[in-house]
Amino acid sequence: MKRKKIIAGNWKLNMNQAQTRDFLKEVSGKLSADDLNAIEAIVCPPFTSIAAAGETIKEANLKIAVGAQNLSQHQSGAYTGEINAEMLKELGISSVLVGHSERRETFAEDDSVIKAKLNTGLEAGLNVILCCGESEATREVGDTDKWVAGQIASALEGLSLTDFASRVTIAYEPIWAIGTGKVCDSAEANRVCAMIRSKLAEILDQASADATRILYGGSVKSSNVDEIIAQSDIDGALVGGASIKVEEFPALVASAARESAKAVA
Ligand code: PGA
Repeated sequence: MKRKKIIAGNWKLNMNQAQTRDFLKEVSGKLSADDLNAIEAIVCPPFTSIAAAGETIKEANLKIAVGAQNLSQHQSGAYTGEINAEMLKELGISSVLVGHSERRETFAEDDSVIKAKLNTGLEAGLNVILCCGESEATREVGDTDKWVAGQIASALEGLSLTDFASRVTIAYEPIWAIGTGKVCDSAEANRVCAMIRSKLAEILDQASADATRILYGGSVKSSNVDEIIAQSDIDGALVGGASIKVEEFPALVASAARESAKAVA
């Protein structure tokens, strides 16, 4: 099954508007249009830099989509500090991250909040990158599969979507590998991604599971991306730290494009 590769940059709390413009202008000279056409490249800046990212990408004529890192599960009302899906759509974004471990842990978003955010994003017409992943303690006691499958089942419960695979992407991000430099062994990451795919087949159906992109995230950089992205059940990467480095982001895109070309050959 040929699935278009994705390189998604999660900029986290980095890059103000000026830095966003400078970064995208700089990388535009290093990105090949053919590579960008062969894959799906996405950048997720902080809310206040989304418009600057969209404008700079347009000016530089780059095929990079802009996503958001978060959205409110509410539509409007007394929710101080929140931003809703329609406001994000107004900025021209295509997708939104939901369930990132930093949101789950630092901002105490539990499964019910994540499910509500997933549904709100999808109902508004946004694509969602749904993140999941286990802590080191969960891995050590051998509960990785149970934990990750549980996160997926809980988020997707009751969801009925005919075009699931084109709207939802899963990102498997073991928490102990995020921002630590400790990348998960590629064969192990692939095993968990294959497990997620079989869980999707159980919840949805085999065709949807086969067509859904499953990304790996956690300390991905240009020196390890080739091996990760070559795995049978890994369809790209969700990248934090390396995605805001001028030399790294184009290298990640090029790696995914090379892997796509192999899959066609
Ligand atoms: P990292 O972050 O690439 O810096 O480990 C990944 C993520 O949090 O999505």
